[in-house]
Formats: sequence, C-alpha cells, structure tokens
Amino acid sequence: MQTTLAFDVYGTLIDTQGVLVELQKLLGDQAPAFSARWREKQLEYSFRRGLMQNYQDFSVCTRDALEFCDRFYQTQLTAEQKQQLLACYRTLPAFDDAKAALQELSEAGFRLFAFSNGSAEAVKGLLQHAGIDGFFEGVVSVEDLKSFKPNPAVYSHFLRSSSARANETWLISSNPFDVIGAVSAGWQAAWVQRSSEAVFDPWGIEPDARVTSLGELKRVLDAAR
Ligand code: LAC
Repeated sequence: MQTTLAFDVYGTLIDTQGVLVELQKLLGDQAPAFSARWREKQLEYSFRRGLMQNYQDFSVCTRDALEFCDRFYQTQLTAEQKQQLLACYRTLPAFDDAKAALQELSEAGFRLFAFSNGSAEAVKGLLQHAGIDGFFEGVVSVEDLKSFKPNPAVYSHFLRSSSARANETWLISSNPFDVIGAVSAGWQAAWVQRSSEAVFDPWGIEPDARVTSLGELKRVLDAAR
C-alpha cells in the first residue's frame, strides 16, 4: 500500500509570517498584530465565502483581508504599499524544515501532493519560488470545486484527483481546522504545531499525530504503516 501525503501549503510548507518583514518596514511595532489578524481574516473570509457559496479566488480573500486590516488599524497604506504586500504574499518563503523533509519522504516512496485553498497557479508559483516544487506529484486546488477547506467535498475532490483512498491518505497541516476537516472525511492527519503557543481546537476530533517539525514526519508515518 502506497501512502499519499496531502500537504497544506500556507502555514505548513510556506511561512505566511514571511510577510512580517515587509510589514515591519511599513508599520514598525504594529506589524505582528497586523500580520496575525490579516491571516485570521483571510481564513475567515474563505470560510464565509464557502458557506455563502460565493466563491472567489483565495487571493481575493487575501486582498480583502488586507483592506480590512488597513481600516481596522487605521494604517492608511497606499495602493502601492498594498500591491507590494500582496506581491510579497506570492513569493513567501518555505519553512526551513520543508526541503529536507520532502526529499526524505519522497525518497521513502510516499506520494506527495500540495493541497491548498490557493489557486493551482498561485501554489505552483510559490512552490517553484521556494525551490520545493519538484517533490510533488501534483497540486490539488479547491478552485476546481469553487469552495474552500474544510468543506468535506474538497477532501473528496482531493481523493478523486489523486486516485487515493481515504484510509491511505494523510493530511499534513499546521491548521487545526484543516486537520479536523480531514479526520472527519476519514483520512489520517498530522498536525504540525508550528509554534508552542498554537492551540488545537477542543472539538474531541484529534490528529493521529502531532509534530513540531516536518522532519519528524517520516518516523511518525513509518510507525503508522
Ligand atoms: C491552504 C491554507 C488553508 O494552503 O493554509 O490551504
């Protein structure tokens, strides 16, 4: 049995806090709060658009969330500064542990996919820019369904697209909502706890594994095989 690994992208492989450096230049001390809220709002907008069946590309959620934060924090960013920040979002770096872990897992015979709320084009661009695109058999985006994680239909779409079975598939994600979505769809899931302050949602739906770095995955997955 060949295990399929579906990697979440933003926050798991790609460090969304990479935008913080750019924000710090513009906003100084306000940057960490702005950056965290921007990410929260981006996700909230994707959830709401999913529920409302009012799909727009994830980059629209990102753009609208930036606009919200500019109003909320009264930062009066110029159109050019907003463009600069959004451009930065398209070229965010990979986490330091990504490349070596992907290489190890791909050499060990796991099938690797990127599975994201982002459009396939945006995700391919990010992975390429970060130099980790070559490890993936494919990129599966929610855009084909015009909905967002954690809609169960999105997880089924992944299985159809990758010809994988739920019980042979692991989601690898730092996002608790994504892990809960995958476990609810009958997959196994590893939660990548990217910060010691990150808290897993207390819904009674637990990840099959918890790791603090992608480098721990091979050991965990081998033990589960
Ligand atoms: C993604 C977001 C949820 O890449 O992080 O799908």
